[in-house]
Amino acid sequence: MSGNIEPGMTKPIHRRELAGAEVEVFATAADAYESAIDRLATLIRDCLDARGKAVLGLATGATPEPVYAGLVREHQARALSFAQVSTYNLDEYYPMSPLDPNSYRAYMDRHLFSQVDLTVNRAHLLDGTVPEAFANDHGAGYDRWIAAEGGLDLQLLGLGRNGHIGFNEPTDLPVEQSLALPTRLVELHPTTIADAARDFGGEANVPRQALTMGIATILAARSILILAFGDRKAPAVARSLTGPVCSEVPGSLLQTDPGKVTWMIDRAAAAELL
Ligand code: F6R
Repeated sequence: MSGNIEPGMTKPIHRRELAGAEVEVFATAADAYESAIDRLATLIRDCLDARGKAVLGLATGATPEPVYAGLVREHQARALSFAQVSTYNLDEYYPMSPLDPNSYRAYMDRHLFSQVDLTVNRAHLLDGTVPEAFANDHGAGYDRWIAAEGGLDLQLLGLGRNGHIGFNEPTDLPVEQSLALPTRLVELHPTTIADAARDFGGEANVPRQALTMGIATILAARSILILAFGDRKAPAVARSLTGPVCSEVPGSLLQTDPGKVTWMIDRAAAAELL
């Protein structure tokens, strides 16, 4: 899917405000990727022009792979430099060696870090090797690093089939408590484990825990771009955008920060919205 995408200005077939967010529905995922790559490259250039640096929150998984391929092409073809870009990834499995091919560190190295001019100590991931007793301290430190950078200019998100953002899984917490969640160690939801089974060669091999940016950390970003494609995401998209704000659907918590969130989705993911 990523092969032929060139940055440009592909228009959505529908654009509307919903639940405080800008929702852009594209004919195909390829069209949405083109627009997302353009949005990110423009934001990086604008931030570099305005203050000499850009700070990005990044996601992993299948959804953003073509975005990173597009940014690598922008780097190569149009001299988009990452030398003054800082990145903070959303999450990492726990426990997890950075050398494990299934680690999100390895994913980022493969898809972006090794292919652009990012500075080594500006590309950050949560560390799946910290002792468990210090995992939440590590999360709190991560939140401090982001704050010390002046916050995230943009957080890129995917959406789990169960509505999770990062690895903030469905819970029965009161909404106010969810909105205050910091970066921390969490238990993975059965749907998340099932979805990761293919990468790990079976559910039994999937880590049961992860480190994730908290809802508070995500919502503190100055802008949020969330991507969801395909009919398997349609129920979670609809529940996030048209359902009540609740911790059972973490994506719905994005409704609490109007004017900050853009959804780029394809027709299939929008099927239960239109
Ligand atoms: C990944 C992450 C997850 C994924 C979500 C969708 O860093 O935080 O929330 O964005 O599970 O995954 P894919 O894109 O594989 O469908």
